[in-house]
Amino acid sequence: MTLNQKGILANLYADEDLAQNICRYLNIPNQTILQHDFPDQETCIKTDWPCKDQDIYLLTSIEHPNKKILPLTFAAESLRQKGAKSITLVAPYLPYMRQDKAFHPGEGISAYYFAKLVSVFFDGLVTMDPHLHRIKNLSEIYTIPTNVVHAAPAIAAWIAQHIEAPLIIGPDSESEQWVKATANIQNLPFIALDKVRKGDESVEIQMKDLSLWENKTPILIDDIISSGHTIIETCKHLKILGFPSPIVIGIHGVFANNAYKKLKPYCKNIYTTNTILHESNKIDISESLAIGISKM
Ligand code: R5P
Repeated sequence: MTLNQKGILANLYADEDLAQNICRYLNIPNQTILQHDFPDQETCIKTDWPCKDQDIYLLTSIEHPNKKILPLTFAAESLRQKGAKSITLVAPYLPYMRQDKAFHPGEGISAYYFAKLVSVFFDGLVTMDPHLHRIKNLSEIYTIPTNVVHAAPAIAAWIAQHIEAPLIIGPDSESEQWVKATANIQNLPFIALDKVRKGDESVEIQMKDLSLWENKTPILIDDIISSGHTIIETCKHLKILGFPSPIVIGIHGVFANNAYKKLKPYCKNIYTTNTILHESNKIDISESLAIGISKM
């Protein structure tokens, strides 16, 4: 597939292979944004390519976002100063979506603040499967045009190619949207379990009867794997029910605090999409992102 898009893809923090794949689909040049950090940790952004009157698609990877967001806004400002016509943020993984309410008195609602910040510096946003839960649509918090693309077609195609008799399982009610979308493409059985989160690194999965599917291959799908505890507890739950270790698929493999290593003993295999560069990347989503960009 080649889309004849106009503009430039500019990369700050994103995987170079992902950038090149997207550019191939869109038939646009791939440029790099350089960052120089001074000894005092202040940052200078540099681009040595012209961008006057160009639509810029700023591809980034903003897991662990706090260090990256300031240089990213500087990059957008610097491109604007050089005459860019528009600057669209392409963030395959959109952080800060899970703090979508004050869970305890006095807590801030980071999803809103992050959206407000991005909406000031960018003219549009393209992202993949953001964690939409209590916020149903990005337009509730972003004041710029947004386009959400989905990993389900790529994941479903991968499952069809590699797994026999799959049962698609989501660890919690939020995950139902992703497991249902993936399962429905190939008409596969699916179920979403129930989770109670007790803390950052403590979750409890509620028992459910899965005896109807005991001969199936369990495929556990979640949007984000962060501390890994949601997946670990679900794997333990499946073991109690007599299932073999599941194949785990994460859309966004954040893998905080060594989570990948902690998870491995509980799963048959762990695979992720390449929204965040990681050794578990097996499912390429560059085509969906290119289509998402072309529709902005
Ligand atoms: C939240 O509901 C998400 O869909 C994931 O289940 C969650 O972010 C996973 O977090 P962790 O890996 O820290 O359990």
